Amino acid sequence: MTDHSAPDTGEKRPALIPATPAGIARAAELLRAGRLVAFPTETVYGLGADATDDRAVAAIFAAKGRPQFNPLIVHVPDLAAAHSWGLFDDRAHDLATQFWPGPLTMVVPRPANSALSLLVSAGLDSIAIRVPNHPVAQAILRAAGKPIAAPSANRSGAVSPTTPHHVLESLGDRVDAIVTGGKCMVGLESTVIDLTGPEAVLLRPGAVLPDEMERLIGPVRLSAGDPMAPKSPGQLESHYAPNAAVRLNASSAEEDEAFLTFGPDRFVFGGTTRLNLSLEGDLNEAAANLFSHLRSLDQSGARRIAVMPIPEVGLGMAINDRLRRAAAPRS
Ligand code: TXA
Ligand code: MG
Repeated sequence: MTDHSAPDTGEKRPALIPATPAGIARAAELLRAGRLVAFPTETVYGLGADATDDRAVAAIFAAKGRPQFNPLIVHVPDLAAAHSWGLFDDRAHDLATQFWPGPLTMVVPRPANSALSLLVSAGLDSIAIRVPNHPVAQAILRAAGKPIAAPSANRSGAVSPTTPHHVLESLGDRVDAIVTGGKCMVGLESTVIDLTGPEAVLLRPGAVLPDEMERLIGPVRLSAGDPMAPKSPGQLESHYAPNAAVRLNASSAEEDEAFLTFGPDRFVFGGTTRLNLSLEGDLNEAAANLFSHLRSLDQSGARRIAVMPIPEVGLGMAINDRLRRAAAPRS
């Protein structure tokens, strides 16, 4: 753990990278190359990847072993950078001015032609953005020059990591590199506030408190404890539904169906429009393509989307979770 000065053979995983200027440059280079790099923020360690790279974002879900595609937070160095990826109204501006950099994540509408991976938003039309207040996170974000998606750097269901050692214990060689920046000061994930509707809604409590925000933007609805309110839009079945109906486990498609295939599909028939999630049957590639393919097939105007079976292993579980929600009866 302490051999930071040991020569890098390029073989050891994960690489433990010190938070020096050279280390930060290396971390940024790995991120730009689509690799997974854990790094400290003031709240918890994040498992970072280039938020514009579908494959890199899919690798986050694979590394965490998440059975679902929860939307991820995009990290940027400042409000100016945040403007490239989210639509900020007056409330969002006021909160950003007061609390950024800091432990506040804002969910705002996602611009129509965003270069961000659709997987980052788990197919939603919104995006969660945060400007972390940690010198190492700041330096990495500036050096990378890319928006960085970063959930907490732990396996799904495990507690959030506040030291590089926690990350190593939880993710081990599932992450390419860990930037060793000491202990996180806040130790609790950021406050998440949803500003996509006329009413501001607290999605996750954190160090920035509701009344601090209310002083700036007026009433904030606390979704926690309100049984009628969604905890997170990502958990709402209807948010995952395309316009077209969805039929699962299809071995062929009917004439008026669009067809979402997986694996070699030369001898599979039907579908007015068809797209393949991964010809090679690679689940990481399939996850990276899932939301964009579903959108494209939906936009083809088909009445229904037929979907070939996806194996229920690894990322296949998250893909199937998403597809089952899309196929669930509509309310
Ligand atoms: O403190 C933090 O926020 C840490 C550090 C690394 O920045 N990150 C973190 O990310 O906790 P994660 O992925 O573990 O939590 C993201 C939360 C989830 O509750 C997710 O549902 C919510 O943010 N979220 C993300 N995008 C959303 C969206 N478009 N709509 C609603 N909720 C969203
Ligand atoms: Mg987490």
